[in-house]
Amino acid sequence: MTIRKVGVIGCGLMGSGIAQTCAQSGYETIVREVNQELLDKGMTRIRGAWDMLVNKGKLTQGQRDEYNSRLRGTLNLEDLADCDLVIEAVIENMEEKLKLFPALDRIVKPEGLLLSNTSSLSVTQMGAVTRRPAQVCGLHFFNPAPVMKLVEIVRTISTSDETIETVRQFALSLGKMPVIAKDTAGFIVNFLLIPYLLAAIRMLENGQATRDDIDTAMKLGCGYPMGPFTLLDYVGLDTTMWAAEAIYEEYKDPLYAPPPLLRRMVASGMYGRKSGKGFYDYL
Ligand code: 3HC
Repeated sequence: MTIRKVGVIGCGLMGSGIAQTCAQSGYETIVREVNQELLDKGMTRIRGAWDMLVNKGKLTQGQRDEYNSRLRGTLNLEDLADCDLVIEAVIENMEEKLKLFPALDRIVKPEGLLLSNTSSLSVTQMGAVTRRPAQVCGLHFFNPAPVMKLVEIVRTISTSDETIETVRQFALSLGKMPVIAKDTAGFIVNFLLIPYLLAAIRMLENGQATRDDIDTAMKLGCGYPMGPFTLLDYVGLDTTMWAAEAIYEEYKDPLYAPPPLLRRMVASGMYGRKSGKGFYDYL
């Protein structure tokens, strides 16, 4: 199957990065949000990234205009009807996904592929509420999506070989390196990353070391690009907590239980960079 037109559902941190990546890679891209304010915010983020690349001399104005011409925003799910492939990047809440997938199944043309950017929820369940489970799989991007080279392709027990191969080729065309994971909570990266991030929060709670020293230690001691608290703020504390809860739900392994500090920060609206406050201040 040839992919020409891509739909992205959600224009938040991940959805906007995914839409940006698709438009940059030559795909006609349409991104849908639930209200104009969120759509404007996401589109401004994408255009800002392209402007930044023009200012850095990495993109010509002509290329930027070409990218812009391939990207369209909408509030209307029906506008995705003729997409060859749709990537869902809405909030990490199974109820929301289980409402969205049957709607996409009704609207998107029968041969279209339906993908989820979920970081830890069951893609099998999403496929099961459609009439095309063989055409459903996960395509998990990493933040910042236009920069990070990895994508996880998540194969459910119903996903066809043909779908996996089409999505693999699509990922390569985006300049990404795909890896294939079974549909188990956390896939590959979050299964390993989440316990590390939660352990850093527990160290802070226990007073073993300061925030800055833990960040410095992991950055300089392990060569990681960011320490765990900088990364938590970058990814979003809410996103991290949802991912941890989903993996905990599946395995009941205390390694994945969100520590009290994380729960309280999320309850206080301290989501990290996107809310202006997390382990660090961004105002
Ligand atoms: N579009 C295109 N290019 C962009 C961009 C965008 N939106 N944003 C940044 N870039 C480019 C910059 O132009 C720059 O290019 P250059 O090196 O050629 O000049 C390059 O990306 C790096 O950007 P910066 O110079 O601004 O920043 P850094 O060099 O400090 O790198 C970082 C920033 C890439 C975020 C790096 O710190 C990093 O890799 N951090 C770790 C991120 C990580 O681990 N992400 C995964 C999180 S887990 C996850 O997402 C899973 C989820 O399910 C929880």
